[in-house]
Amino acid sequence: MKPLAIKADIYWVGAVDYSSRDFHGYSLSLQGTTYNAYLVQDEKNTLFDTVKPASLGDMLARIREVMEPENIDYMVINHVELDHAGCLPDMVALCKPEKIFCSPMGLKSMKAHFDTTGWPIEVKKTGDTLSLGKRTVHFLEARMLHWPDSMFSYLAEDKLLISNDAFGQNIACSERFSDEISPEVLLHVLKEYYFNIVQPFAPQVIKVLEQAEAMKLDIDMIAPDHGLIFRGREQAAFALESYRAFATPTWKKRAIIIFDTMWHSTETMASFIGEGLASAGVPYRILPLKANHHSTVMTALADAGAVFVGSPTHNNGIMPGVADVLTYMKGLRPQKKIGAAFGSFGWSGGGAKVIHEWLESMNFEMITDPVTCNFVPKKETLDKCFEMGRAVGLALAARCEGRE
Ligand code: FEO
Repeated sequence: MKPLAIKADIYWVGAVDYSSRDFHGYSLSLQGTTYNAYLVQDEKNTLFDTVKPASLGDMLARIREVMEPENIDYMVINHVELDHAGCLPDMVALCKPEKIFCSPMGLKSMKAHFDTTGWPIEVKKTGDTLSLGKRTVHFLEARMLHWPDSMFSYLAEDKLLISNDAFGQNIACSERFSDEISPEVLLHVLKEYYFNIVQPFAPQVIKVLEQAEAMKLDIDMIAPDHGLIFRGREQAAFALESYRAFATPTWKKRAIIIFDTMWHSTETMASFIGEGLASAGVPYRILPLKANHHSTVMTALADAGAVFVGSPTHNNGIMPGVADVLTYMKGLRPQKKIGAAFGSFGWSGGGAKVIHEWLESMNFEMITDPVTCNFVPKKETLDKCFEMGRAVGLALAARCEGRE
Protein backbone atom coordinates (compact mmCIF):
# COMPACT_ATOMS: atom_id res chain seq x y z
CA MET A 1 0.00 0.00 0.00
CA LYS A 2 1.75 3.12 -1.23
CA PRO A 3 0.98 6.69 -0.21
CA LEU A 4 0.73 9.31 -2.92
CA ALA A 5 2.55 12.65 -2.62
CA ILE A 6 0.03 15.31 -3.61
CA LYS A 7 2.30 18.24 -2.66
CA ALA A 8 5.81 18.41 -1.21
CA ASP A 9 5.71 16.50 2.11
CA ILE A 10 1.93 16.02 1.89
CA TYR A 11 0.64 12.51 1.24
CA TRP A 12 -2.70 10.91 0.48
CA VAL A 13 -2.85 7.96 2.88
CA GLY A 14 -6.49 6.97 2.40
CA ALA A 15 -8.29 3.84 1.26
CA VAL A 16 -10.10 2.86 -1.94
CA ASP A 17 -13.30 0.91 -1.31
CA TYR A 18 -14.15 -0.89 -4.53
CA SER A 19 -16.92 -2.87 -2.79
CA SER A 20 -18.98 0.03 -1.47
CA ARG A 21 -22.46 0.12 -2.99
CA ASP A 22 -24.46 1.42 -0.01
CA PHE A 23 -23.14 4.81 1.04
CA HIS A 24 -24.14 5.60 4.62
CA GLY A 25 -27.23 3.41 4.37
CA TYR A 26 -29.26 5.71 2.11
CA SER A 27 -27.46 6.46 -1.14
CA LEU A 28 -26.07 4.14 -3.77
CA SER A 29 -22.34 4.24 -4.51
CA LEU A 30 -22.39 2.17 -7.67
CA GLN A 31 -18.79 3.02 -8.53
CA GLY A 32 -17.47 2.42 -5.01
CA THR A 33 -15.91 5.22 -2.98
CA THR A 34 -12.73 6.29 -1.20
CA TYR A 35 -11.98 7.51 2.30
CA ASN A 36 -9.21 10.07 2.00
CA ALA A 37 -6.82 10.95 4.79
CA TYR A 38 -3.81 13.24 4.42
CA LEU A 39 -0.47 13.12 6.18
CA VAL A 40 1.72 16.21 6.41
CA GLN A 41 5.40 15.88 7.27
CA ASP A 42 6.57 18.98 9.11
CA GLU A 43 8.01 19.95 12.48
CA LYS A 44 4.66 18.72 13.77
CA ASN A 45 3.70 15.69 11.70
CA THR A 46 -0.04 15.94 11.21
CA LEU A 47 -2.72 13.53 10.05
CA PHE A 48 -5.87 15.14 8.62
CA ASP A 49 -8.85 12.81 9.13
CA THR A 50 -8.81 9.01 9.17
CA VAL A 51 -10.73 6.36 7.24
CA LYS A 52 -13.62 3.95 7.77
CA PRO A 53 -12.66 1.43 10.49
CA ALA A 54 -12.51 -1.50 8.03
CA SER A 55 -9.83 0.39 6.09
CA LEU A 56 -7.56 1.15 9.06
CA GLY A 57 -4.96 -1.40 7.88
CA ASP A 58 -4.74 0.24 4.44
CA MET A 59 -4.23 3.68 5.96
CA LEU A 60 -1.59 2.48 8.41
CA ALA A 61 0.30 0.67 5.65
CA ARG A 62 0.44 3.88 3.61
CA ILE A 63 1.44 5.98 6.63
CA ARG A 64 4.27 3.54 7.43
CA GLU A 65 5.78 4.16 3.99
CA VAL A 66 6.30 7.78 5.12
CA MET A 67 6.83 7.51 8.88
CA GLU A 68 5.96 5.36 11.84
CA PRO A 69 2.45 6.28 13.06
CA GLU A 70 3.92 6.89 16.51
CA ASN A 71 5.66 9.94 14.98
CA ILE A 72 2.39 11.66 14.25
CA ASP A 73 2.20 14.68 16.55
CA TYR A 74 -1.12 16.22 15.63
CA MET A 75 -4.42 14.89 14.38
CA VAL A 76 -6.99 17.17 12.77
CA ILE A 77 -10.50 15.72 12.69
CA ASN A 78 -12.53 17.82 10.28
CA HIS A 79 -15.71 15.78 10.79
CA VAL A 80 -16.64 13.05 13.26
CA GLU A 81 -18.82 10.86 11.02
CA LEU A 82 -17.41 7.36 11.23
CA ASP A 83 -16.16 7.12 7.65
CA HIS A 84 -13.57 9.74 8.70
CA ALA A 85 -13.24 9.45 12.45
CA GLY A 86 -14.07 5.78 12.91
CA CYS A 87 -10.38 4.92 13.38
CA LEU A 88 -9.81 7.69 15.88
CA PRO A 89 -9.77 5.55 19.05
CA ASP A 90 -7.27 3.13 17.44
CA MET A 91 -5.14 5.96 16.12
CA VAL A 92 -5.11 7.83 19.43
CA ALA A 93 -4.06 4.65 21.22
CA LEU A 94 -1.34 3.96 18.66
CA CYS A 95 0.02 7.47 18.00
CA LYS A 96 -0.59 9.11 21.37
CA PRO A 97 -0.85 12.48 19.62
CA GLU A 98 0.24 15.65 21.35
CA LYS A 99 -2.99 17.32 20.20
CA ILE A 100 -6.25 16.48 18.47
CA PHE A 101 -7.92 19.42 16.77
CA CYS A 102 -11.60 19.73 15.89
CA SER A 103 -14.35 22.34 15.57
CA PRO A 104 -16.50 23.38 18.56
CA MET A 105 -19.30 21.12 17.32
CA GLY A 106 -16.68 18.47 16.59
CA LEU A 107 -15.88 18.33 20.28
CA LYS A 108 -19.54 17.61 21.08
CA SER A 109 -19.73 14.95 18.37
CA MET A 110 -16.45 13.38 19.45
CA LYS A 111 -17.59 13.07 23.06
CA ALA A 112 -20.90 11.59 21.91
CA HIS A 113 -19.15 8.96 19.77
CA PHE A 114 -16.12 7.94 21.83
CA ASP A 115 -14.71 7.73 25.31
CA THR A 116 -12.44 10.76 25.03
CA THR A 117 -11.10 10.58 28.57
CA GLY A 118 -7.52 11.82 28.52
CA TRP A 119 -7.58 12.81 24.85
CA PRO A 120 -5.65 16.08 24.27
CA ILE A 121 -8.44 17.78 22.31
CA GLU A 122 -8.19 21.43 21.33
CA VAL A 123 -11.01 23.28 19.64
CA LYS A 124 -10.43 25.42 16.55
CA LYS A 125 -12.96 27.95 15.28
CA THR A 126 -13.26 29.79 11.97
CA GLY A 127 -10.27 32.08 11.60
CA ASP A 128 -8.09 30.16 14.07
CA THR A 129 -4.71 28.98 12.87
CA LEU A 130 -2.23 26.26 13.74
CA SER A 131 1.48 26.29 12.99
CA LEU A 132 2.93 22.95 11.93
CA GLY A 133 6.43 24.44 11.54
CA LYS A 134 7.03 25.42 7.94
CA ARG A 135 3.32 25.76 7.23
CA THR A 136 0.20 27.19 8.87
CA VAL A 137 -3.25 25.66 8.88
CA HIS A 138 -6.23 28.05 8.73
CA PHE A 139 -9.53 26.63 9.91
CA LEU A 140 -12.95 27.38 8.48
CA GLU A 141 -16.03 25.82 10.06
CA ALA A 142 -18.24 24.41 7.30
CA ARG A 143 -21.37 23.72 9.29
CA MET A 144 -23.75 21.23 7.68
CA LEU A 145 -21.26 20.33 4.95
CA HIS A 146 -22.05 17.63 5.98
CA TRP A 147 -22.79 17.78 9.73
CA PRO A 148 -22.77 20.69 12.18
CA ASP A 149 -19.21 19.69 13.13
CA SER A 150 -17.73 19.80 9.63
CA MET A 151 -14.67 21.97 9.12
CA PHE A 152 -12.22 22.85 6.33
CA SER A 153 -8.46 22.97 6.85
CA TYR A 154 -6.56 25.33 4.56
CA LEU A 155 -2.80 24.93 4.32
CA ALA A 156 -1.75 28.41 3.24
CA GLU A 157 1.82 27.77 2.05
CA ASP A 158 0.63 24.84 -0.06
CA LYS A 159 -2.54 26.60 -1.30
CA LEU A 160 -4.31 23.37 -0.32
CA LEU A 161 -7.88 23.14 0.95
CA ILE A 162 -8.72 19.89 2.74
CA SER A 163 -12.49 20.01 2.46
CA ASN A 164 -13.70 16.78 4.07
CA ASP A 165 -17.14 15.78 2.65
CA ALA A 166 -17.57 18.94 0.56
CA PHE A 167 -16.61 18.44 -3.11
CA GLY A 168 -16.54 14.67 -2.49
CA GLN A 169 -17.55 12.04 -5.01
CA ASN A 170 -18.25 8.33 -4.76
CA ILE A 171 -15.83 6.76 -7.17
CA ALA A 172 -13.25 4.04 -6.63
CA CYS A 173 -10.51 3.94 -9.24
CA SER A 174 -6.74 3.90 -9.58
CA GLU A 175 -6.70 7.60 -10.43
CA ARG A 176 -6.42 10.05 -7.53
CA PHE A 177 -6.79 13.36 -9.38
CA SER A 178 -9.90 14.77 -11.04
CA ASP A 179 -8.02 15.72 -14.23
CA GLU A 180 -7.22 12.05 -14.82
CA ILE A 181 -10.81 11.02 -15.59
CA SER A 182 -13.28 12.28 -18.18
CA PRO A 183 -15.00 15.59 -17.34
CA GLU A 184 -18.40 13.98 -17.95
CA VAL A 185 -17.79 11.23 -15.40
CA LEU A 186 -16.37 13.75 -12.94
CA LEU A 187 -19.41 16.04 -13.23
CA HIS A 188 -21.75 13.08 -12.81
CA VAL A 189 -20.14 11.78 -9.61
CA LEU A 190 -19.80 15.29 -8.17
CA LYS A 191 -23.47 15.94 -8.89
CA GLU A 192 -24.59 12.53 -7.62
CA TYR A 193 -22.83 13.17 -4.30
CA TYR A 194 -24.05 16.76 -3.91
CA PHE A 195 -27.70 16.11 -4.75
CA ASN A 196 -27.95 13.08 -2.45
CA ILE A 197 -25.98 14.38 0.51
CA VAL A 198 -25.31 18.11 0.50
CA GLN A 199 -28.43 19.45 -1.28
CA PRO A 200 -30.52 20.31 1.84
CA PHE A 201 -27.74 22.60 2.99
CA ALA A 202 -27.53 24.81 -0.11
CA PRO A 203 -27.74 28.07 1.91
CA GLN A 204 -24.81 26.91 4.07
CA VAL A 205 -22.83 26.03 0.91
CA ILE A 206 -23.25 29.58 -0.37
CA LYS A 207 -22.29 30.96 3.04
CA VAL A 208 -19.10 28.87 3.26
CA LEU A 209 -18.11 29.82 -0.29
CA GLU A 210 -18.59 33.48 0.62
CA GLN A 211 -16.52 33.05 3.80
CA ALA A 212 -13.73 31.38 1.82
CA GLU A 213 -13.80 34.33 -0.59
CA ALA A 214 -13.74 36.82 2.29
CA MET A 215 -10.74 34.99 3.77
CA LYS A 216 -9.07 35.39 0.35
CA LEU A 217 -7.98 31.79 0.33
CA ASP A 218 -5.62 31.24 -2.57
CA ILE A 219 -6.51 27.69 -3.59
CA ASP A 220 -4.73 25.60 -6.19
CA MET A 221 -5.77 22.22 -4.83
CA ILE A 222 -8.94 20.94 -3.16
CA ALA A 223 -8.54 17.59 -1.43
CA PRO A 224 -11.90 16.15 -0.34
CA ASP A 225 -12.29 13.07 1.86
CA HIS A 226 -14.14 11.07 -0.82
CA GLY A 227 -13.11 10.52 -4.40
CA LEU A 228 -10.72 12.51 -6.54
CA ILE A 229 -8.51 15.47 -5.66
CA PHE A 230 -8.92 18.68 -7.66
CA ARG A 231 -5.38 19.53 -8.75
CA GLY A 232 -4.49 22.96 -10.17
CA ARG A 233 -6.41 26.22 -10.23
CA GLU A 234 -8.65 25.22 -13.11
CA GLN A 235 -9.84 22.02 -11.42
CA ALA A 236 -10.23 23.75 -8.04
CA ALA A 237 -12.28 26.51 -9.68
CA PHE A 238 -14.40 23.84 -11.38
CA ALA A 239 -15.22 22.29 -8.00
CA LEU A 240 -16.02 25.65 -6.39
CA GLU A 241 -18.12 26.88 -9.31
CA SER A 242 -19.97 23.57 -9.57
CA TYR A 243 -20.97 23.84 -5.91
CA ARG A 244 -22.02 27.45 -6.38
CA ALA A 245 -24.18 26.40 -9.34
CA PHE A 246 -25.63 23.36 -7.54
CA ALA A 247 -26.54 25.52 -4.54
CA THR A 248 -28.23 28.18 -6.72
CA PRO A 249 -31.35 26.46 -8.11
CA THR A 250 -32.51 27.45 -11.58
CA TRP A 251 -35.29 26.13 -13.82
CA LYS A 252 -34.13 23.22 -15.99
CA LYS A 253 -35.92 22.36 -19.24
CA ARG A 254 -36.13 18.64 -18.65
CA ALA A 255 -38.56 16.39 -16.78
CA ILE A 256 -38.56 13.08 -15.00
CA ILE A 257 -41.50 10.71 -14.67
CA ILE A 258 -41.29 8.24 -11.81
CA PHE A 259 -43.87 5.61 -11.00
CA ASP A 260 -44.60 2.23 -9.56
CA THR A 261 -47.22 -0.02 -11.09
CA MET A 262 -49.14 -3.27 -10.45
CA TRP A 263 -50.73 -4.23 -13.76
CA HIS A 264 -49.14 -1.60 -16.03
CA SER A 265 -51.98 0.96 -16.02
CA THR A 266 -49.89 3.63 -14.24
CA GLU A 267 -46.95 2.67 -16.47
CA THR A 268 -49.05 3.28 -19.61
CA MET A 269 -50.13 6.65 -18.23
CA ALA A 270 -46.46 7.57 -17.75
CA SER A 271 -45.74 6.96 -21.44
CA PHE A 272 -48.51 9.30 -22.56
CA ILE A 273 -47.38 12.02 -20.12
CA GLY A 274 -43.96 11.71 -21.77
CA GLU A 275 -45.46 12.22 -25.22
CA GLY A 276 -47.19 15.35 -23.98
CA LEU A 277 -43.88 16.68 -22.65
CA ALA A 278 -42.18 15.93 -25.96
CA SER A 279 -44.91 17.84 -27.83
CA ALA A 280 -43.98 20.87 -25.71
CA GLY A 281 -40.29 20.42 -26.57
CA VAL A 282 -39.29 19.17 -23.12
CA PRO A 283 -36.99 16.13 -22.98
CA TYR A 284 -37.78 13.60 -20.29
CA ARG A 285 -36.67 10.40 -18.65
CA ILE A 286 -39.00 7.72 -17.31
CA LEU A 287 -37.68 6.07 -14.14
CA PRO A 288 -39.71 3.02 -13.06
CA LEU A 289 -39.16 2.72 -9.31
CA LYS A 290 -38.75 -1.05 -9.43
CA ALA A 291 -35.61 -0.42 -11.51
CA ASN A 292 -34.35 2.85 -10.02
CA HIS A 293 -33.15 3.52 -6.48
CA HIS A 294 -34.26 6.74 -4.79
CA SER A 295 -30.72 8.14 -5.03
CA THR A 296 -30.72 7.60 -8.82
CA VAL A 297 -33.97 9.55 -8.95
CA MET A 298 -32.42 12.46 -7.03
CA THR A 299 -29.43 12.63 -9.36
CA ALA A 300 -31.80 12.72 -12.35
CA LEU A 301 -33.97 15.35 -10.64
CA ALA A 302 -30.92 17.63 -10.38
CA ASP A 303 -31.26 18.31 -14.11
CA ALA A 304 -35.06 18.44 -14.22
CA GLY A 305 -37.51 21.27 -13.63
CA ALA A 306 -40.57 19.01 -13.49
CA VAL A 307 -41.30 15.74 -11.78
CA PHE A 308 -44.33 13.53 -12.39
CA VAL A 309 -45.00 10.92 -9.74
CA GLY A 310 -47.39 8.04 -10.34
CA SER A 311 -48.79 5.25 -8.20
CA PRO A 312 -51.78 2.96 -8.28
CA THR A 313 -53.92 3.34 -5.19
CA HIS A 314 -52.80 0.64 -2.76
CA ASN A 315 -54.65 0.06 0.51
CA ASN A 316 -56.12 3.58 0.21
CA GLY A 317 -52.64 5.04 -0.14
CA ILE A 318 -49.63 4.72 -2.40
CA MET A 319 -47.19 1.94 -3.28
CA PRO A 320 -44.36 1.50 -0.73
CA GLY A 321 -41.68 2.28 -3.35
CA VAL A 322 -43.35 5.61 -4.13
CA ALA A 323 -43.58 6.49 -0.44
CA ASP A 324 -39.87 5.70 -0.15
CA VAL A 325 -38.82 8.08 -2.91
CA LEU A 326 -41.17 10.87 -1.77
CA THR A 327 -39.82 10.65 1.80
CA TYR A 328 -36.23 10.78 0.55
CA MET A 329 -36.97 13.60 -1.90
CA LYS A 330 -38.70 15.74 0.71
CA GLY A 331 -35.73 15.51 3.07
CA LEU A 332 -33.36 16.68 0.34
CA ARG A 333 -35.43 19.85 -0.28
CA PRO A 334 -35.11 20.26 -4.06
CA GLN A 335 -36.06 23.72 -5.34
CA LYS A 336 -37.63 25.16 -8.49
CA LYS A 337 -39.71 22.19 -9.57
CA ILE A 338 -43.17 21.77 -11.04
CA GLY A 339 -44.84 18.65 -9.65
CA ALA A 340 -47.68 16.51 -10.97
CA ALA A 341 -49.39 13.34 -9.77
CA PHE A 342 -51.10 10.50 -11.59
CA GLY A 343 -52.14 6.90 -11.12
CA SER A 344 -54.78 4.22 -11.51
CA PHE A 345 -57.19 2.91 -8.91
CA GLY A 346 -59.60 0.02 -8.51
CA TRP A 347 -62.58 0.31 -6.15
CA SER A 348 -61.45 3.33 -4.15
CA GLY A 349 -59.10 6.09 -5.28
CA GLY A 350 -56.84 8.38 -3.33
CA GLY A 351 -53.28 7.40 -4.30
CA ALA A 352 -52.71 10.23 -6.77
CA LYS A 353 -54.22 12.71 -4.28
CA VAL A 354 -51.75 11.56 -1.62
CA ILE A 355 -48.89 12.15 -4.06
CA HIS A 356 -50.25 15.58 -5.04
CA GLU A 357 -50.30 16.59 -1.37
CA TRP A 358 -46.76 15.29 -0.83
CA LEU A 359 -45.45 17.30 -3.77
CA GLU A 360 -47.34 20.38 -2.62
CA SER A 361 -45.77 20.01 0.83
CA MET A 362 -42.34 20.20 -0.85
CA ASN A 363 -43.32 23.61 -2.25
CA PHE A 364 -43.36 22.30 -5.81
CA GLU A 365 -45.57 24.27 -8.17
CA MET A 366 -48.72 22.22 -8.80
CA ILE A 367 -50.34 23.58 -11.94
CA THR A 368 -52.54 20.58 -12.80
CA ASP A 369 -54.93 18.36 -10.90
CA PRO A 370 -53.94 14.70 -10.58
CA VAL A 371 -54.91 12.46 -13.51
CA THR A 372 -56.46 9.19 -12.39
CA CYS A 373 -58.11 6.25 -14.08
CA ASN A 374 -60.30 3.37 -12.95
CA PHE A 375 -58.37 0.13 -13.54
CA VAL A 376 -57.20 0.27 -17.19
CA PRO A 377 -56.68 3.62 -18.99
CA LYS A 378 -58.81 4.20 -22.10
CA LYS A 379 -58.35 6.87 -24.75
CA GLU A 380 -60.02 9.59 -22.68
CA THR A 381 -57.61 9.07 -19.78
CA LEU A 382 -54.58 8.76 -22.02
CA ASP A 383 -55.55 12.04 -23.72
CA LYS A 384 -55.67 13.63 -20.25
CA CYS A 385 -52.19 12.25 -19.51
CA PHE A 386 -50.90 13.71 -22.78
CA GLU A 387 -52.49 17.07 -21.98
CA MET A 388 -51.02 17.08 -18.46
CA GLY A 389 -47.56 16.39 -19.88
CA ARG A 390 -47.99 19.12 -22.47
CA ALA A 391 -49.36 21.69 -20.00
CA VAL A 392 -46.51 21.11 -17.55
CA GLY A 393 -44.00 21.10 -20.43
CA LEU A 394 -45.24 24.44 -21.75
CA ALA A 395 -45.23 25.97 -18.26
CA LEU A 396 -41.72 24.71 -17.62
CA ALA A 397 -40.47 26.03 -20.96
CA ALA A 398 -41.97 29.42 -20.10
CA ARG A 399 -40.15 29.50 -16.75
CA CYS A 400 -36.88 28.45 -18.35
CA GLU A 401 -37.19 31.17 -20.95
CA GLY A 402 -38.13 33.77 -18.32
CA ARG A 403 -41.63 34.25 -19.72
CA GLU A 404 -43.26 33.39 -16.38
FE1 FEO B 1 -18.02 11.30 4.57
FE2 FEO B 1 -20.31 12.96 6.50
O1 FEO B 1 -19.07 11.65 6.10
